[in-house]
Amino acid sequence: REKALLETAKLAAFEAGALLREGYRKDGRVAFERKGASDFVTHYDKAAESTIIKRIHSTFPNIAFLGEETGITAGSDSDYTVVVDPLDGTNNFLHGVPHFSVSIAVTKGDELLIGIVYHPLLNEMLWAGVGTGAFLNDKRLVRPIARPLTEMLVSTCLPYNDKGDCATALKQLTILMPQVAGIRSPGSAALEIAYTGLGRFDAFWSQGARLDFWDVAAGIVIARETGCMVTDLTGNPTPAKWNSLVVAHPQRHRALLNCLNATG
Ligand code: IPD
Ligand code: CA
Ligand code: CA
Ligand code: CA
Repeated sequence: REKALLETAKLAAFEAGALLREGYRKDGRVAFERKGASDFVTHYDKAAESTIIKRIHSTFPNIAFLGEETGITAGSDSDYTVVVDPLDGTNNFLHGVPHFSVSIAVTKGDELLIGIVYHPLLNEMLWAGVGTGAFLNDKRLVRPIARPLTEMLVSTCLPYNDKGDCATALKQLTILMPQVAGIRSPGSAALEIAYTGLGRFDAFWSQGARLDFWDVAAGIVIARETGCMVTDLTGNPTPAKWNSLVVAHPQRHRALLNCLNATG
């Protein structure tokens, strides 16, 4: 059952990704709605989400969904929920910055089971299932190396406009900046977390940006399956709400957590 869910969700991510690729290259980069000061929605956010829901519904007609654009769709098969961020990085998409993703996770009760993060322009699918390992397309991922703090390239999501806590984010940046090799905020939380599992980033954190569950769920499964440690800012690996997040190699996680919490 879970294997079939994983395969169907991967297919759904491919289909939604094809749509985003087409929109990115053509006329799609127009916002028609705003959910906040700069939380834009394009035709492609909506179309990608309905593509995903339709594809998964065709094989699992009773499954529940939590989607950024459509909210909760109840299902009689209440064990599983598919968590969908159809376009993570809408602001990049709108500006023509080629860094955005489709993100799909599956939960069973409180447990995160499956994570898929697809970069349609690079045709890179990062995916993982609990106990099956994590993959980049067909290549199995191994745990990334633990670079010393001074060599770490760290990514984060920063607050913007009315979304988030700028003061905390600035304090954390002030502490971390002189200690690491670089800090990036590329603009697709799902990709940045999954890239940490892959080793492209040595760590990811976010607190101020107030990420939603659909931003982080799939990436968390991928990072965990490559052996990264994933907790909230208090160090809790299974918080009720993922409104803060630190992802890093187990040998670096504590040091990072201490830096980020030393904001006075
Ligand atoms: C956004 C991205 C971004 C993060 C924002 C999110 P969206 O998601 O994940 O990296 O900084 O807080 O809202 O709206 O493009 O799906
Ligand atoms: Ca959005
Ligand atoms: Ca998102
Ligand atoms: Ca989105």
